[in-house]
Amino acid sequence: MFGKLSWEAVPFHEPIVMVTIAMIALGGLALFAAITYFKKWTYLWTEWLTSVDHKKIGVMYIIVAMVMLLRGFADAIMMRTQLAMATEGSPGYLPPEHYAQIITAHGVIMIIFMAMPFFTGLMNLAVPLQIGARDVAFPFLNSLSFWLLVSGVVLINLSLGVGEFAKTGWVAYPPLSGLQYSPGVGMDYYIWALQLSGLGTTLTGVNFLATVLKMRTPGMKLMDMPIFTWTCTWANDLIVSSFTIL
Ligand code: HEM
Repeated sequence: MFGKLSWEAVPFHEPIVMVTIAMIALGGLALFAAITYFKKWTYLWTEWLTSVDHKKIGVMYIIVAMVMLLRGFADAIMMRTQLAMATEGSPGYLPPEHYAQIITAHGVIMIIFMAMPFFTGLMNLAVPLQIGARDVAFPFLNSLSFWLLVSGVVLINLSLGVGEFAKTGWVAYPPLSGLQYSPGVGMDYYIWALQLSGLGTTLTGVNFLATVLKMRTPGMKLMDMPIFTWTCTWANDLIVSSFTIL
């Protein structure tokens, strides 16, 4: 059922990874227990997880961004500690292949899974309100974009405990990222996490461009739009033109 996936993919020999996974599992269990105890599953499912309301989707984007900020921050602390500990006589506490994964994950997480969702969250919260629209042009697509981002988030965090992440730096230039120099599953995680969330970002760009161009309140010309909506419009223009290539 799991193909080539075996227990070898779980780094039992790396205490730092195993302690981190244990903490995440405990935190997840506590959250699960709290939601069950307070009987909030139905509320969570109907009011939030399946909502197509742009304001709620905006809040969920910002929550995901904050969670990933914590993950990116943890990576940053590990890197800084390693840089402080590694002296001429000592290699520090992180093996080189682990440091390479952390620097890559930190860059990808901070840009793609923290800064971008945070911006998309603000855009979801403010743009329809600023142009007098009831919602975005395609509310269901908006929800789909969010969950595509979450799929990428799940993959990049899964790589922590199953297999490994890319060791190429966040820009992953070939030939370093090619099969010859990156034969492990790390690049696969990188590619799939970015493809899924990138598809979501592209759809968000299309959605918000359509919203701004077609759903402004009657009488509001483009030059009447607030400056925040203008910056979002050009950001979405860049998203649609660059993410399709990426
Ligand atoms: C919380 C404070 C932060 C600290 C202490 C920190 C620390 C670091 C360190 C030590 C590196 C590796 C430098 C090297 O060895 O070459 C790095 C790389 C990087 N950081 Fe941060 N960082 C922080 C926040 C951020 C934020 C907020 C962002 C973006 C929104 C960011 C984006 C990046 C990127 C893109 C790289 C390059 C990764 C690569 O080369 O693959 N960092 N950071």
